[in-house]
Amino acid sequence: MSDERIKAPRGTFDVLGEQAAIRTALEDRARSILEGAGYERIETPVLEATELFARGVGSSTDIVQKEMYTLLDGGGRSLTLRPEGTAPVCRAYVEHGMHKRAQPVKLWYLSSFFRYERAQSGRYRQFWQVGAEALGSEDPAVDAESIVLLGTLLEEMGVREIRLRLSSLGGGESRERYRERLQAHLRANAGSLSAEVRERIELNPLRAFDSAHEGTIAVMRDAPRLLDELDADDAEHFAAVCQLLDRAGLAFEVDTTLVRGLDYYTRTVFEFTSDALGAQSGVGGGGRYDGLVQQLGGPATAGMGWAAGIERILLAGSPPPAGGHALDLYVGLADVGEDGSCPPAKTAAFGVLSEARSAGLRAVMEMAGRSLKGQLGQANRLGARYVALVGEGETVLKDMQDGGQETLATEKVVHAALRGLRELA
Ligand code: HAM
Repeated sequence: MSDERIKAPRGTFDVLGEQAAIRTALEDRARSILEGAGYERIETPVLEATELFARGVGSSTDIVQKEMYTLLDGGGRSLTLRPEGTAPVCRAYVEHGMHKRAQPVKLWYLSSFFRYERAQSGRYRQFWQVGAEALGSEDPAVDAESIVLLGTLLEEMGVREIRLRLSSLGGGESRERYRERLQAHLRANAGSLSAEVRERIELNPLRAFDSAHEGTIAVMRDAPRLLDELDADDAEHFAAVCQLLDRAGLAFEVDTTLVRGLDYYTRTVFEFTSDALGAQSGVGGGGRYDGLVQQLGGPATAGMGWAAGIERILLAGSPPPAGGHALDLYVGLADVGEDGSCPPAKTAAFGVLSEARSAGLRAVMEMAGRSLKGQLGQANRLGARYVALVGEGETVLKDMQDGGQETLATEKVVHAALRGLRELA
């Protein structure tokens, strides 16, 4: 057998150290913003039936055609590592009869997703998204609220050079009529299009707006725009969303070329981009998907939501400032015993550790046989405010902030640390 070092697969990464702490801070902000707006946490399985994405995301999309990690399980069933969260949330909505609850049902998630994409900065094969979905209401206020909540999260995470682009894809008959007009325009100019766009004229003509190919861009400049052809209901809905966003003071640009890479959208679509990100500028986006629940076998149900990439938020944002001490008490040993032994002072120190945690202190105990100097160095690295060097009957309590120290009975240590911390607060 080879003893070569095994690395994490391309496009995946470990989350540890400071990165883990920053992600925890992001998750806390997301929870506070979304739960404060009535969203409940949902987590769905990492594996879903492949059919869910083929039907939900759309068989003509890049995601379904090229990017899914699909496997057969031991029972011969085709399963896929989730490439996105909206179809799974809609599946769960139907499976748990959530249409019987008061509407809209608002759900949020923070999970990892998988796409077999060309890996580069800001684009990974396993990545994390925070997402929010509101099901069961067509009200344009749901759209506006949802967009504003993502705007708030991005702002609080310090995302730089941010822009919000907004459009409407309409729905139903007007969309069908538009699709035919766009196809006619593409067919008439087929010679100037990229091969990829040409091949997709029948299946997915809207994606031509996303092309970076020069000839295609020129053709799309004169292409008919869906926003100009919305029917009266859809136009009124879009106008209401714009009005509500204005009222909330969130700046946006109407962008008639905005299309998204998933097939389920109807009416509102939007994307937050950051110019600080370079090529992968999409930080988060989403829109309405009023037909998706029904497409997955549920009752006709409106839906609106978004997802934002955690890695992209962190790349384009400034990490929240580290506040105060990370640890209240480092419980050390005044006499360093033989490694593996349990002298009475160690038992006493373990008692101090338990008591400190019961009192709500963030406490860590020396467990690696360090010298006194080594223990103080470790306490410093962990950001401890106090260090207790526990002896059998007496303990030295050091204040790492002002350098002072006192010797006291071991059973008084936690009380003294608590008092000191309270004075600090
Ligand atoms: P999406 O635009 O495919 O939408 O992904 C949302 C966000 O996930 C992107 O803006 C980006 O920040 C991040 N993202 C996507 N792919 C990658 C990748 N390979 N590496 C790193 N980050 C990535 C959706 O997934 C929809 N489910 C959004 C939605 C929710 N629409 C309605 N509800």
